[in-house]
Amino acid sequence: PVIHVLNGPNLNLLGVREPEIYGRDTLADIEQRCAKAAGEAQIVFRQSNHEGVLVDWIQEAREGADALIINPAAYSHTSVALHDALKTLSIPVIELHLSNPAAREAFRHHSYVSSAATGVIAGFGAHGYELAVQAALTKVRERA
Ligand code: DQA
Repeated sequence: PVIHVLNGPNLNLLGVREPEIYGRDTLADIEQRCAKAAGEAQIVFRQSNHEGVLVDWIQEAREGADALIINPAAYSHTSVALHDALKTLSIPVIELHLSNPAAREAFRHHSYVSSAATGVIAGFGAHGYELAVQAALTKVRERA
């Protein structure tokens, strides 16, 4: 299987950005964790600060991806465009957050992405990416 892992704005700064909230792993560390958790499966791991680029990548997943994991970061709370793009997919979609947005500021409590996702993993830090890869592989196997 091929699993696409998309990361939204400011996640390029992981490791130095509010480490008390987001942890000390860099995005490169997290990519390695995903590759390990994936075993034989292939991980396509990408990050962009730009909403439209993320929309393009979601559309790309329509061909060739067996599951999509997305940490939409701040766009979770603002982006109808990401919601609409995700709705075009027929593969499992996992929304992922390092922190637990429900336990933070009120403006993080709503996600436009959740209603277009198969499931949500939040609050487990970098380990959440490994959990998401496992969940994606389980869903893919269930569908096979
Ligand atoms: C985040 C949570 C979002 O609210 C925030 O805007 C982020 C990261 C997380 O992984 O915890 O940038 O998606």
